[in-house]
Amino acid sequence: MEASRTMLDRAYINPSKEEDRTKIPPNTFWNIEEAKKNNIYFYLKEIKAVKPHGRVIVEGLGEMIMLGGYSYLGLKEHPKIHEATKQALDEYGAGTDGSRFLAGTFSLHNALEKTIARFKSTEDCITFTSGYLANVSTISTLLRRNDIVFCDKMNHASIIDGCLFSRAHLMRYPYGDLEMLEKYLKKITARVRKLVVVDAVYSMEGTIADLPGIKALCQKYDAYLMVDEAHSVGVLGERGTGIEEYFNMPKDTIDIKMGTLSKAIPSTGGYVAGNSEIINFLKHEARGFLYSGAPSSTAIAAAMAAFQVIEEEPSRIQELNQKAGYFRTRLKEEGFNVGEGQTPIVPIIIGEFTATSLLAKYCQDNGIFIHAIHPPVVTEGSSRLRASITYSNTVEDLDYCVETIKTGARKFGIL
Ligand SMILES: Cc1ncc(COP(=O)(O)O)c(C=O)c1O
Repeated sequence: MEASRTMLDRAYINPSKEEDRTKIPPNTFWNIEEAKKNNIYFYLKEIKAVKPHGRVIVEGLGEMIMLGGYSYLGLKEHPKIHEATKQALDEYGAGTDGSRFLAGTFSLHNALEKTIARFKSTEDCITFTSGYLANVSTISTLLRRNDIVFCDKMNHASIIDGCLFSRAHLMRYPYGDLEMLEKYLKKITARVRKLVVVDAVYSMEGTIADLPGIKALCQKYDAYLMVDEAHSVGVLGERGTGIEEYFNMPKDTIDIKMGTLSKAIPSTGGYVAGNSEIINFLKHEARGFLYSGAPSSTAIAAAMAAFQVIEEEPSRIQELNQKAGYFRTRLKEEGFNVGEGQTPIVPIIIGEFTATSLLAKYCQDNGIFIHAIHPPVVTEGSSRLRASITYSNTVEDLDYCVETIKTGARKFGIL
């Protein structure tokens, strides 16, 4: 069924009927059933197989070019990483014996933490079972009631959740607005803990945080700095070590360096790297570390091998950024608004909700795995398709994607 504009207008809108406030679950924030009925629901898609060159086989849709994933360096298929994973399985088995604190710490966990600390040039590191947990647990453990946390409005949900969970006073400033950040910092004259938290790469925009500007403010107002490097490790800097390398800034610019093992690093888990005092504190106080099972041996071994591969094969980083630059430039030349980003995340900003949904559907029907992103995830009137380019995508496939997006955009009167 071809989705019409009026049908689409009704999708995603909050169900209007009175909510029964006694019922669990409560109403969803968007109209899932309407979206499904209108054939624009493209979530929880079942991937049947992962193919070379950034392609996947999707149930009911066949082979698609993946522009919706984050395996930035194409390491999911790397033989060294496969080998390390198999060896860990043989040596340590499939599960763990509980939380890291009690019985779940393998030599592998400590070795990975040392590896990350070295890669991120810090004294020490702590790993968690996900990046989400790393953010929530770290922020809520380092801050307490009456402390102040300054948070960019575009920060990832896990940062926001960590701030809320901490019960610190949360001051959210508009996306990248350092004037506003300074205004907020200036207001706080009490002797309290102050933490500024930002994403190194804004995941909806593909832009890079102004680390020099943010650091200067942290120094001026005596605030600690935490940076989420989920989209910058393996991507920014010639060696892929992240945002400090990108800006050629000292290796101790960031006090708390958070990252994930689920994007450029082809595994699952999250980490926080920093000085020994902070990490030791987290290993004894962070509830997401103390009260959660240890990451599995296979996840840890895959991550460790991946860091080694990144160090051995830096040309992957250059090729990734070249491909992303090529894709962005081609779209720009065709007249698309691709924002101000410089990273492999390339937003294709359409503006209107309906046109964006129609274009996303057109791309999906034509073999491109890409999502539409709407408010409130992005600001009102800036609905977009969001592509994330990886090392695995071929230039031919990227050309095909540009042509398909262009044809779809003409069809729906966008271009
Ligand atoms: C900026 C950012 N931070 C944190 C996370 C959470 O990481 P993980 O997927 O390891 O839970 C993500 C992943 O979606 C992310 O994009």
